[in-house]
Amino acid sequence: MPSAATAYDRAVTNPEPHLDPAALAARFPAGFSWGFATSAYQIEGAAAEDGRGPSIWDTFSRVPGAIADGETGDLACDHYHRFGEDVALMAGIGAKAYRFSVSWSRVQPAGIGPVNARGLDFYDRLVDALLAAGVEPLVNLFHWDLPQALQDRGGFADPQAVGWFAEHAGVVASRIGDRVSDWMTFNEPAVFAFLGHADGIHAPGLRDWPTAMRVADNQLRAHAAASAVIRAQVRDARIGVAIDVNQVVPATDSERDRRAAEQWSSGRDAWFLDPLFGRGYPQLGLEAHRAAGHLDGLELSDPPAGELDYLGLNYYRRDTVSARSDRAFDFEVGTRAGSNQTQMGWEIAPDGLREVLLELNREYAPREIVITENGAAYPDSVDSDGRVRDDRRVAYLAGHVASAAEALAAGVPLTGYHVWSVLDNYEWSLGYTRRFGLVHVDFATQRRILKDSADWYRRLIAAGR
Ligand code: FCB
Repeated sequence: MPSAATAYDRAVTNPEPHLDPAALAARFPAGFSWGFATSAYQIEGAAAEDGRGPSIWDTFSRVPGAIADGETGDLACDHYHRFGEDVALMAGIGAKAYRFSVSWSRVQPAGIGPVNARGLDFYDRLVDALLAAGVEPLVNLFHWDLPQALQDRGGFADPQAVGWFAEHAGVVASRIGDRVSDWMTFNEPAVFAFLGHADGIHAPGLRDWPTAMRVADNQLRAHAAASAVIRAQVRDARIGVAIDVNQVVPATDSERDRRAAEQWSSGRDAWFLDPLFGRGYPQLGLEAHRAAGHLDGLELSDPPAGELDYLGLNYYRRDTVSARSDRAFDFEVGTRAGSNQTQMGWEIAPDGLREVLLELNREYAPREIVITENGAAYPDSVDSDGRVRDDRRVAYLAGHVASAAEALAAGVPLTGYHVWSVLDNYEWSLGYTRRFGLVHVDFATQRRILKDSADWYRRLIAAGR
C-alpha cells in the first residue's frame, strides 16, 4: 500500500465551512457507525477460483451488448486476493463498520447442497481480518449474484427460492455467526426484481412483469425465512434489509404527474416497505400493478412481516416522474433537465435524504435506520503528483452527511452511514465506466490510491466521538 501512507500525511484543507469534517462529525452521537459498503461480484474477482460456481452475473456479463464496456467481474478489484490490503485501507481511514456481501455460488457452487469449504474459508478469513483491524462486519447475504444453477431451476420466481435462501443463510451463519452479529438479507430487492426481470438490464435479463412480481414476493418471504434461521443460530443477531428509496417527485403539479409519482412510490418503494412492516401490499400499488397487467396469473397473499432490527436505506438521488398517458404505470422516471447531476445522470439532492429519512420514520417508525449506501460516481483521474482531487465527491458526501445530521436532530433513530464505496469497482451494466470509490483503483495494475475524499472521510471519522 505505498500510496496510503503518503495520502494520510497530506493536509487536505476544505476552505468551505460546510465541508468541514470536524464540524459535521460533531453533529453525530458517540458510537455512530461510519462505514463502507461493497458487494461480492463488484469487487472480488477470482470468478473461477477455489471451486466457485457461476452466478447469473457471470452469465449476463457475457451477453453481447449487455455491459457498456463489454467487461465482466472476472477480475474486478481482485479483492479475493487483496482483501488484507483492502481491510487495512479501510482501517486506515478509520472505518468502524464494513458491509460486504457473500457470493452464494462461492459458498455453494450449485446454490443448494454441497458446501465449498474453500469458498466459506474466504469469508471466515475476511471476518477475522476485519475484527483484528477493529472494523465491525455487516454481512449481506444477497447482492443480486444468484447461483446460475438456481436460475436454471427457475430462479427467484420459483417459490422454492424461499427454502434455497434459508439454506444459504444457515450455511453462512453456521460458519461466521459466532463472530458476526450484524446481518442483512437482501440489498435492493426492487432493483433485483424489476431491473433483472421486467426491464432486462440486469441479470438474469428477463423482461416479464409477472415474473418480476413473483421474484419480489419470494424475496419478501425469503427474508422472513432466512431471518428465522439466523436468529436461531446467532446470539444477539441484528437483522435488516437494504431498501433503495430515493426522493420521488412529480415532474409538474398536474394531476397526471402526481398520480404517476404516487403509483411509482407505492408500486416500488412501499411494495417492499409495507409488507416488511407488517401491513401487506399497499392498495395503490396493487391497483396500479393489476391495471398494468403486472399481476396476471399471480395469486398474491400478504408476506409475513420482516421484524427488522434496523431498516437499511440506500439513497442516491431525486427521481422525477412524468406521466406518459392516463394508463396505470405508464410513466417515465428521470432527471430534471438542467439539474446538478453525478456521472450516473442522477440528480444530486442532499435535502431529499433528510426528507426520505423523516418520511420513513413517520410512516414506519423503524427501531433504527442505517444508511447502508450513499455515494457518487465521477470521472476521477490521477494527477501528475499522484493525487486524486475528487472535490465533487467530497461536496456530495458532505451535503448528504449534513442532511442526515438534520434528520437525526429531528428525532430519526439513525445509527450508521456506509459510503458506497471504498474502491472503484464493477458497476453492473456500466462495467468499469463509473468510479464510486474513495480509493482509486487502476484496473490494469490493481494499484490503490486514496482520493482526497478518503482523507476527508478519515478526518470526519477521527473527529467523531
Ligand atoms: C446500488 C447498488 C450498488 C451500486 C450502487 C451504485 O443500487 O446496490 O451495488 O451499484 O447502486
